[in-house]
Amino acid sequence: MSPKPTTLAIDIGGTWLKATLLDPKGEALTPVQRLNTPTKEMPTALLKALHALSSKMGSFSRASVGFPGVVFDGVTQCAANLEGDWKGFPLAQELEDLLQVPTRVANDADIQGLGAIQGQGVELVLTLGTGLGSSLFSEGRLLPNCEFGHLPSGYRNEKNKALSFENRLSDQVLQSIGVEAWKDRVQETLTIFFSTFNPTRIYLGGGNARFFVNDPNLPSRVTVVPNETGLLGGIALWK
Ligand code: BGC
Repeated sequence: MSPKPTTLAIDIGGTWLKATLLDPKGEALTPVQRLNTPTKEMPTALLKALHALSSKMGSFSRASVGFPGVVFDGVTQCAANLEGDWKGFPLAQELEDLLQVPTRVANDADIQGLGAIQGQGVELVLTLGTGLGSSLFSEGRLLPNCEFGHLPSGYRNEKNKALSFENRLSDQVLQSIGVEAWKDRVQETLTIFFSTFNPTRIYLGGGNARFFVNDPNLPSRVTVVPNETGLLGGIALWK
């Protein structure tokens, strides 16, 4: 590998696939390119789409990939917001064969967190997008694959089905109940997570965190991070 590796950073979202190139310090070298996430014939369709996306990116010597589900050693376990069966799919190996560069894959919220945190105290990251992602750190050390979005929220729907935090805060719900009601739910969730984990800071990332930029009602220990953090954090997989 060259002494100054260029990293292809990919963020697989429930709605978009995004990519950029990163320099060795993790600074973006190119504008973000994106493609729609396939909605059928997965996982094959995802590999095809990532091949198409990466071929638009110029040259790179390794790849970091954020996946919207649980990942153990590059092997996917589940993905609530992707079509198809992801149990036991060796995504890192498949991409390595396809892209012909060393490839590391981790949960998307874990990568977002690695790009967002300061490395001090207990830090919690929540990503507000198609689903609700989460990552938890102590003194900069990640506890991988924390799925707080799938915890029961204590609410039930009209058919008496228990609702997870993700069921109440997803993008689909935002579209149906409107921004103000959805923001109230996020605030209620922040209160619960502050009193449960007692984090030094909570970071809000993901596309829908934009609704909290400059919001005077956010608690002082909450920081909104740009959505690009989901790509920039990819550099940390090589540290
Ligand atoms: C998945 C998480 C992921 C989040 C955001 C959830 O449905 O279970 O692993 O981080 O969506 O993509």
